[in-house]
Amino acid sequence: MKIFLDTADVEEIRQGVAMGVVDGVTTNPSLAAKAGRNFRDVVLEIVEICPGPVSAETVALQADEIVREGRILAKWAPNIVVKVPLMAEGLKAVKQLTSEGIKTNVTLIFSASQALLAAKAGATFVSPFLGRLDDIGQDGMILIRDIVQIFKNYNVQTEVLAASIRHPVHVLQSALAGSHVATMPFKVLQQLVKHPLTDKGIETFLVDWQQVPDAATVF
Ligand code: E4P
Repeated sequence: MKIFLDTADVEEIRQGVAMGVVDGVTTNPSLAAKAGRNFRDVVLEIVEICPGPVSAETVALQADEIVREGRILAKWAPNIVVKVPLMAEGLKAVKQLTSEGIKTNVTLIFSASQALLAAKAGATFVSPFLGRLDDIGQDGMILIRDIVQIFKNYNVQTEVLAASIRHPVHVLQSALAGSHVATMPFKVLQQLVKHPLTDKGIETFLVDWQQVPDAATVF
């Protein structure tokens, strides 16, 4: 499963990419606002740091305007993926952008049938928001599993991008469900690295190493 960072914070992206495990980045208007910088500057920096797909979101509500915004974003770098919200006008725009060879990520997906429609329109990725479903008392993982199954049934090429991830269990369950990608906040990536037994084990090894006669000269 590919790991994307869900952030517009370039320092987090720099650290994640340096770890060697980050395959791409997703942003959205809320994350862009949080970054507090010009969106174009931030995205141009991110695409330099991360060679993988970088999602940048459109904000128009009419298909022709979404297409216009998508074309602008796509010109910024070859690894830009144009993020479009799931709505009828968005589907139209995705169809058009796809026909122009522009990659798309259909976002704000909350049902498997929405994902199927996005795939039919030609989306490169679909982003089901599992955390936001959990937030309202539903089981977001069911949505991920359903979409993965439906795409398998019909050999759909669109990739499932599990989004709105809140904690490491979401990542694990997305991988078990066969999601192609999980996009997560940097904090969740850091949580995935850590295990108390790993930390304890390192500590013990370091203490024991001091008992080895040539410990000070081996390295
Ligand atoms: C990613 O593409 C989404 O925009 C993001 O995962 C949404 O997450 P949130 O529900 O934590 O805002």
